[in-house]
Amino acid sequence: MPPSFDFTTFPVLTTERLILRQITPDDAEGMSAIFGDPLVLRYLNQRPLDTPEKGRELIDYLAGEYRQQVGVDWGIILPADGRLIGMCGAYKLDRANRHMDIGYHMLPAYWGQGYATEASRAMIGWCFDAFDLHRIQADCTEGNLASERVLLKCGLTEEGIWREICWEHGRFVNLKQFGLLRHEFKMP
Ligand SMILES: CC(C)(COP(=O)(O)OP(=O)(O)OC[C@H]1O[C@@H](n2cnc3c(N)ncnc32)[C@H](O)[C@@H]1OP(=O)(O)O)[C@@H](O)C(=O)NCCC(=O)NCCS
Repeated sequence: MPPSFDFTTFPVLTTERLILRQITPDDAEGMSAIFGDPLVLRYLNQRPLDTPEKGRELIDYLAGEYRQQVGVDWGIILPADGRLIGMCGAYKLDRANRHMDIGYHMLPAYWGQGYATEASRAMIGWCFDAFDLHRIQADCTEGNLASERVLLKCGLTEEGIWREICWEHGRFVNLKQFGLLRHEFKMP
């Protein structure tokens, strides 16, 4: 692994049960199935992306982040049938301070089977190495217990609360901030 990833070849990651690969325009329908689902949007300040066209716009946006070398987003795939069951990403690469933010979203039919945790651990390990990061961070809406649990299972520590920082579904909500320092991370 080079000390700093140069964005030439997309990094495919494999875990015990999953493949994490590049999201392509062919995933437009799969992405709109994820980001058009009200259960997925419950804790997000995000309009529903409930058509393949809107899914494609999101894919273009993510591809732009990769081109600008500030983010990497993976489609989470079940190897048995090649189905896109979720996505995860690391973004806001801050080279000066050596940190990134992470996030993940899964189709509800696949919740509760440890997939987001498995994918996130692989993503975190890769990002620490590839970008020589010192820290990885994430936030989630207070009350998004599944997301909070994923972060804790990945080894992040709760660091504080931003009060009423986000407008979600007609009200201001608190965000919980989590962080993980490199020396605290145990490779999966
Ligand atoms: C957050 C999300 C990605 C988790 O995906 P997942 O594959 O189900 O996650 P995992 O199975 O790896 O872990 C989920 C954990 O949360 C727990 N959990 C789920 N719902 C819960 C609830 N309502 N209360 C408490 N714990 C809950 C699960 O039991 C599991 O913990 P455990 O292994 O200790 O039992 C998924 O719920 C999702 O896509 N949510 C919508 C999008 C979203 O909110 N993304 C995060 C934005 S910050």
